[in-house]
Amino acid sequence: MRIFLDTANVEQVRHGARLGVVSGVTTNPSLVSKEGSSDYKAVIKEICAIISGPVSVEVLTTDKEAMLAQAREMAGWATNAVIKIPITADGLEVTAALAKESIKVNATLCFSLNQALLAAHAGAAYVSPFVGRLDDIGHDGMALVADIVAVYRDYDLPTEVIAASIRHPLHCVTAAKAGAAIATVPYSVLLQMIQHPLTDIGIARFLADWQKVAKK
Ligand code: E4P
Repeated sequence: MRIFLDTANVEQVRHGARLGVVSGVTTNPSLVSKEGSSDYKAVIKEICAIISGPVSVEVLTTDKEAMLAQAREMAGWATNAVIKIPITADGLEVTAALAKESIKVNATLCFSLNQALLAAHAGAAYVSPFVGRLDDIGHDGMALVADIVAVYRDYDLPTEVIAASIRHPLHCVTAAKAGAAIATVPYSVLLQMIQHPLTDIGIARFLADWQKVAKK
């Protein structure tokens, strides 16, 4: 399972890239807005220049023609830009049109197996089931990830599953076991994934033991 960073914070993306573990980025309008910039294009172009893998950027309208026009424009911002389109009737139509133009789509706001199936048939390169938001309303978000992975495998559908709306490190473990191609994780979760108390205790013990002889 590959790791994407779910952020529009350029410094977090830079750190993720330096760690050598981040192979893509997903953004959304809320994440860009959180960074306090109204220059969507500038933020996305900066992130696309740091990370060579796919960087998802979401359309900012629900109007079909406007979505299509925006998606085409955004796809021109960088060669690694992937366009996030919500799974609605108009969104599927836009996804199908973009796929015919070889513009990669990340079908976003996926909350059901049916939506994932339709997104794959429309030609989406990626589908993003939102695990945390399903968990929030008492559903099993990770069960949806497992179902989508299994059905895509059964029917040879090439769309890659991005486990999204990740809230904690255990989500990453479960997503990997379920066979998700990618987990897109907030920066805080990426840092949590690195941590283990026994690693810290082990380092401290090794250094303390070494000091016993180094001082002699
Ligand atoms: C995914 O592509 C979305 O940007 C993201 O995972 C949404 O997560 P949230 O539910 O924490 O907002």
